[in-house]
Formats: sequence, structure tokens, C-alpha cells
Amino acid sequence: MQISPSILSADFANLQAELEAIRTADWAHVDVMDNHFVPNLTLGLPVVESLRKVSPVPLDCHLMIDDPDRWAPAYAEAGAESVTFHIEAAADPRGLARTLRGLGARAGMAIKPRTPWEPYEDLLPDLDMVLVMTVEPGFGGQSFMADQMPKVRALRESVKRFGGEVWIQVDGGVSAETIEQCAEAGADVFVAGSAVYGKDDVPGAIAELRALVAARAHP
Ligand code: DX5
Ligand code: ZN
Repeated sequence: MQISPSILSADFANLQAELEAIRTADWAHVDVMDNHFVPNLTLGLPVVESLRKVSPVPLDCHLMIDDPDRWAPAYAEAGAESVTFHIEAAADPRGLARTLRGLGARAGMAIKPRTPWEPYEDLLPDLDMVLVMTVEPGFGGQSFMADQMPKVRALRESVKRFGGEVWIQVDGGVSAETIEQCAEAGADVFVAGSAVYGKDDVPGAIAELRALVAARAHP
């Protein structure tokens, strides 16, 4: 059970301090948006390169961008420990996942709320993580979509059948109110932006989320 706070809700003028504030987390979730795949623009490769130099935790880059086949490998080369691309944008998802692994990163694949999981099941051997979006990607602070939990369950069943070590991440609206149902459905990596950085006590918020899921590890 791992917690990956999203720095999308952090103070972009003080990112080094904001990373220090989450040193008790497992990852720092970095939302890269290109204003094409999603209607919002955040940060890109030069910022990720700088974050890598100062982050006390590994970087979990979530690329909400068009043409990840072209752009994603550079994030692995920049030292991001995990690089997640969107299946809706990838031309050759298997080839891209293999390239990311070859560069030493964990390979993640994200699916939007209206994208089904089943057609991609055969990609599991080439993936280290599947990210199930629990909001429409693009913005922090949106309401959690509980209707994505059947997808998480189906994915957990696929992972069991495949027998590999593929992590299941949920992202969007994850908070103290919603995290337990994600864990019960089979998620094991939890992204939380506003539910961590929106709190005065950031380490306390991480500890609370961790405590809520600790007892609910999937069998
Ligand atoms: C949304 C991003 C999320 C976002 C989550 O497109 O992928 O990572 O930061 O923010 P919260 O936890 O506030 O919903
Ligand atoms: Zn994200």
C-alpha cells in the first residue's frame, strides 16, 4: 500500500519545499499536461529534471499528453522512477512500455474513466502499473467517481490471473472519505493531491491515508 501525493496541488513557486513536505510518502506524483490531451497545461521535462535533483522520494510521472511514444522516454532518461502514459494516446503501448523499462523506469499505463480495461489485458506482462483514473484527467480537486471501482476489481482479477507484480493506482478525488473503497476494490497505490496538500498538516494527512488502507491490503 503506497501513497503518492500529487504536486499538482502544491505551491509551484516552492516545489523543493513542497517535496520535502512529503518525504514520508512513497512517491511524488507529477502531473504533466500538454493542453492537447487534456485542457490544461502544467509542467514538462525541464521541471522534472530539476525536481529529480532535489526530490527525497522517487518521481511518479503521469503523462497526460499526446504522442507519448515520442515524449515519454525522455522522462525515464531524466531519472523518473515511474513513467505512466495514457492508453488513449499511445500508438504502440507495448513497444513504449518496453522502451520505458529498458531505460530503467517502471512502466505505467493510465486509462480514463470511459475507457474499458478488458481490451488491454494482454499488455499486463509489459507493465509495472495500471492507473485507473477516478476523475476525468485535467484538474485537481474534482469529485471521486465511485463508478470506476468495478474497473479496479476487474483489473485486480486480471492481475491475479496473470500472476505478475503489477501495481494498481487510483488517481482523482482520493481522500480519507474515498480511499478505503479503492483499497477494497484492489488498488494498492493511491494518488492524492488536494487531500494532502490542501491540509495544514501534510505529513499528518499522509499518515492518515496510510492508516486507513493499511488494514485493507488485498489478498
Ligand atoms: C488529475 C490528476 C491528478 C490530480 C488529483 O488529472 O491526474 O493527479 O492531481 O488531484 P485530487 O487528488 O485533488 O483529485
Ligand atoms: Zn495524476
